[in-house]
Amino acid sequence: MKKALLLCLVLLMAGSFAFANGKDDGTVTIGCNIYSFQDNFMNGAIKPELEKYAAAKGVKIDIVDSEGQQAKLNDQVDIFITKKVDVLAINLVDPAAASAIIEKAKKANIPLILFNKEATEDGVMKSYDKVWYVGTNSAESGVIQGEMMVADWKANPAWDKNGDGKVQYVMLKGEPGHPDAEARTKYSVKAFTDAGIGVQQLALEADPNWSTQFGNDKMAAWLTSSFGKDIELVICNNDGMGFGAITAMKAAGVRLPIYSVDALDQALTHIEDGELDGTVLNDGVNQARATIDLAINAAKGMDVTAGTSWKIDNGNTKAVRVPYVAVTPENYKEFR
Ligand code: BGC
Ligand code: CA
Repeated sequence: MKKALLLCLVLLMAGSFAFANGKDDGTVTIGCNIYSFQDNFMNGAIKPELEKYAAAKGVKIDIVDSEGQQAKLNDQVDIFITKKVDVLAINLVDPAAASAIIEKAKKANIPLILFNKEATEDGVMKSYDKVWYVGTNSAESGVIQGEMMVADWKANPAWDKNGDGKVQYVMLKGEPGHPDAEARTKYSVKAFTDAGIGVQQLALEADPNWSTQFGNDKMAAWLTSSFGKDIELVICNNDGMGFGAITAMKAAGVRLPIYSVDALDQALTHIEDGELDGTVLNDGVNQARATIDLAINAAKGMDVTAGTSWKIDNGNTKAVRVPYVAVTPENYKEFR
């Protein structure tokens, strides 16, 4: 009797897996994209861990390159749906285009995990009961970067080159409309004004690709511009652009205070070499792991955080937010 019951149960389970993924080997398949394989952080920190952790968990992950084109991503999602993947893990190209993806997933009744680029359309996360977000609290990175800069500014009076008590800064912003880029731009500078220190923005340039080439080109141009000699601080919204700015400064033989976000290995090396004053850990390893954990649970129709230590925040955003950490010349070795 017991045996018969067990057999029934096993058959039932096998049946439901086969139903879930349209194949019959019981393996969970995740249809995944990266908005651009050219992105330092996505390619260097997130993608390798998605692959590694999926393998460790015994699930299949198919990762495609959306090449910075939302239209391409829409097609890739259609293909994943046709292939009957069990769950989608999607890195939006355009954070304002989540609704199109959510509608596709909803129509196909496939759970959807969005990661790294938080949807910006109002109420969109509530439009489907099987969509969740994995990322960070964007503002936190700006706040932490800002606090680091303020502390160092106060400790180094010589950084105020013209002695006017204000910070003359240049800013390398990432993708306009990307919640991380917007929040970092705002909160890093706000830390100075909150501390009663005046600021003057000499230049700000935004790059949808957050790229090293862009950082290099802009910094090189700024250094030779009419205000080149007035720059007292270089604020970079990610490491990638910061790497370019560092290269440009070295080529011009100048060393201005410079800060970024992500804490990629190369950034730690720049800190070690005295070429970068600080960055903020954007924890790609844990963001990738949370994405996979939620995807597996969702594919199995379980509570998405079941058996994990991830917490879904209380708001309407249905998000797991991995904390940022300050990385300085004092503590960078801990992040290797
Ligand atoms: C990272 C950037 C990256 C962007 C891509 C941000 O969280 O800090 O380096 O380019 O995500 O969406
Ligand atoms: Ca000044």
